[in-house]
Amino acid sequence: MTVSDFIKLGQVSDVPVGQVKIFQAGSVRIAVCNVEEQYYAIADLCTHDNGPLGEGELFNDQIECPRHGARFNVKTGNPLCLPAVVPVPTYPVEVRDGALWVNVSPNSK
Ligand code: FES
Repeated sequence: MTVSDFIKLGQVSDVPVGQVKIFQAGSVRIAVCNVEEQYYAIADLCTHDNGPLGEGELFNDQIECPRHGARFNVKTGNPLCLPAVVPVPTYPVEVRDGALWVNVSPNSK
């Protein structure tokens, strides 16, 4: 992973504590979650039935899909309850000078 693999999304002030905001990062839609001022990025696409995960509600480090209620851990992408059983992709986030940067390259893990 190099510095140039990161894409600037916006400012940290765009995502208040306990909130989720959707960004476009290249061809990928990303939901950035603010969990106690730590930022986590997951795909804005539920693995159950392609629901708009970033429009869901955040409960601490869990996000609930607005379509059928599956929950995912935003730190790992792992599903926590049915009807989802497949993890959602997560992406590394960095804060640089008050801005949010994310790495969506395939080998970013
Ligand atoms: S599409 Fe997300 S729970 Fe069904």
